[in-house]
Amino acid sequence: MQTVQTIPHLRSTVDQWRARRERVAFVPTLGNLHEGHLQLVKCAAHAADRVVVSVFVNPLQFGPHEDFAAYPRTLKQDSLKLAESGVHLLFAPGVEELYPFGIGDTVRVEVPALSDILCGAARPGHFVGVATVVAKLFNAVRPHVAVFGEKDYQQLLVVRRLVADLCLPIEILAVPTVREADGLALSSRNHYLSPEERARAPALYQTLQWLAGQLGAGTRDFAVLETQAAGMLRESGFRPDYVAVRRATDLAVPQTADTKLLILAAASLGSTRLIDNLAVTLKDVA
Ligand code: PAJ
Repeated sequence: MQTVQTIPHLRSTVDQWRARRERVAFVPTLGNLHEGHLQLVKCAAHAADRVVVSVFVNPLQFGPHEDFAAYPRTLKQDSLKLAESGVHLLFAPGVEELYPFGIGDTVRVEVPALSDILCGAARPGHFVGVATVVAKLFNAVRPHVAVFGEKDYQQLLVVRRLVADLCLPIEILAVPTVREADGLALSSRNHYLSPEERARAPALYQTLQWLAGQLGAGTRDFAVLETQAAGMLRESGFRPDYVAVRRATDLAVPQTADTKLLILAAASLGSTRLIDNLAVTLKDVA
């Protein structure tokens, strides 16, 4: 596996592949890789001849009081895992490579509507940071296909919309959420949990499953279900940002005719903020 830090180095390799008509897949990450990330790499390897992974802790997507400084940086271990997974190229740029004019002066990419709701409401500016860095990375790597996780479902929709609206010739593939045996979605932030918090953490997914069960049983008062689910999270020691039942395609509040829904939640345990979601397809209920 080749590792490069600069865009010219990255381009010279990818250009050679493209000249040979090889298909290039790309998996962007913040690093501190776990099995969830490696599933994305597997999907990328199935979809293309060459796999590029980026490891870049993007300062623009972290709020001023968030965990940018504390975010685990484990490039050596990440690099070993990626090499073992058959990745061809690791792009690990410094901040000045992707933000040559500085963070404050960078051109920004904004995806309206999707960016201010749910996680965007709780983390102002977060999705502008994500959309901006993903657009920069797409331009730097020039992949045919890019792979994202459903774990960050709102991010996935932001990226799909970015690609469609900027007419980027990139196919976006989505990989289902990889979970621990007890249901907790894998996340680099799970390492922040104390043993006691870790024991409580599966309640997040269990609450989503409970809500899905209520929908399956025919309950359609979404607002009441959301309030009840938030209460269950509080009882388990979480501070919920939101629990929401939304339309899967655009995260709008569902109308009666909508059948493809998504239950999303974000909640903190101590100082660790966890997110999760669960898709539900409604059947006609008599
Ligand atoms: P990061 O949190 O490192 O996640 C990188 C990719 O891995 C994302 O597409 C995310 O949805 C996926 N992922 C994380 N945990 C997963 C799990 N348990 N199951 C399946 N997929 C999972 O998301 C980011 O980085 C950044 O915002 C980024 C897109 C790289 C832009 O900076």
